[in-house]
Amino acid sequence: MLSAEKVVANQIVVPGSGIYKLVLEGEVAATARPGQFVHLQVGLATDPLLRRPVSIAGIDRERGIVTLFYRVAGRGTALLAGVGEQETLSVIGPLGNGFTLPQAGELLLLAGGIGIFPLFSLMDAVDRSKVKVKVLWGAENRQLLEAAGRQRLVDLALDYEVSTIDGSMGQPGLITNLLESYLRKRSLESTQQRISTVACGPPVMLKAVTEICLREGLPVEVSLEERMACGVGACRGCVCTVRAAGGTLERRRVCKDGPVFKGREVVWDAEG
Ligand code: FES
Repeated sequence: MLSAEKVVANQIVVPGSGIYKLVLEGEVAATARPGQFVHLQVGLATDPLLRRPVSIAGIDRERGIVTLFYRVAGRGTALLAGVGEQETLSVIGPLGNGFTLPQAGELLLLAGGIGIFPLFSLMDAVDRSKVKVKVLWGAENRQLLEAAGRQRLVDLALDYEVSTIDGSMGQPGLITNLLESYLRKRSLESTQQRISTVACGPPVMLKAVTEICLREGLPVEVSLEERMACGVGACRGCVCTVRAAGGTLERRRVCKDGPVFKGREVVWDAEG
């Protein structure tokens, strides 16, 4: 689980975006699954706080390579951005549980901003000859969509729609509007295809799309993000609240019990 991975690439994707693509070669790829993450050492080995959790965006088992994306947002990720090619990174992972991979029906992917990254690995893994994949992606603006990989959706010939808060691309407004329009359209077509939904993005977006999905009777999995120290379930620094079977509230560790949870179980407004 602890390995030394070789940095094959660590580059900013678009100048000024703050988003980096990190490609690692080593042992993680052999067992990684979509939805899991790695805990990367970005500073001195003696400082556990200098690890950062980053979700796995691409898995190439044959070449032993995983691809990650991260946005520089503080000291840890700034240190990570300074790591050079051919250097070695201490990596704990792959960690956490992953997304459920549907075998039939429709898979609706809901991404908020850079929440698209973990969904990339799911798009790659799903058998699109059996599963219809639809992507709805909301972001602040066009620049973010382009920097975070809109072209990849085009290259994969995926059926996708976007929304932007500033109206610079796609439907103006929030992803919730996009989701409501899509579900309305879908119900008019009265398709019988079974639909499963996976959402990844900021908590406020996850809460809003989960409410819509549950109202419509759609199963939804959400990938939660939390600050993490140990990353392996030991410190309980990353807990969230879920409503377990029977209605009792329970604390779960995002790193170990998640990061993927059933949307209907998550208690969004629980006290931290
Ligand atoms: Fe330590 Fe999750 S980060 S328990």
